Amino acid sequence: MRINGKLVGICLMGAVGVGAITAWAAGGEPVPNQLKDPDQRIVLQLPPDERHMVLEEMRNFVVAIQEIADGLARDDFEQVATAARTMGSGAANEIPPRVVNKLPETFKQLAGKVHTTYDAIALDAGSMADTQLALEQLGDLYGYCVACHATYQIEKIPFPDEK
Ligand code: HEC
Repeated sequence: MRINGKLVGICLMGAVGVGAITAWAAGGEPVPNQLKDPDQRIVLQLPPDERHMVLEEMRNFVVAIQEIADGLARDDFEQVATAARTMGSGAANEIPPRVVNKLPETFKQLAGKVHTTYDAIALDAGSMADTQLALEQLGDLYGYCVACHATYQIEKIPFPDEK
């Protein structure tokens, strides 16, 4: 969709803009050797347990997408709705506030869009059973995945008590 095209464009520009100066960790410290690193996305620094929570949620996004695609291929809209619901706004609360509070505003907004798009897929699959609509919604969803991946990377830092 055009809206997403725009969104991706803006985020890519944001990432390039940051990279052109230098990349900074979320905490405001310059990242060592960052200028040599071809990966110029904004670095979010998280200890192992918090990074794990975020990445585990990412992998669950893929699980839900796989089940949605499989359901659509077989006109099984109940499976589509159930899979989408697992990653809807209810699931957003799985990342505790102490971790969410460390994440930048744009990151939180994009994550919010992902969850509300899963909500929409679940609701509409249940009430309309329209494959074309679900595919459009998946297109929107991927737009948010792409935008965020183009902008951020996560660096694993030591647990606070190991510093
Ligand atoms: C709000 C930002 C954001 C959104 C939205 C987002 N991701 Fe991610 N995702 C990340 C970041 C940051 C990483 C870590 C990338 C890195 O460090 O290179 C990541 C990593 C991943 C990984 C790798 C997981 C692992 O175990 O290493 C997968 C798979 C993934 N995302 C899938 C998705 C899918 C599918 C969507 C959309 C439904 C999505 N993500 C949406 C930020 C996001």
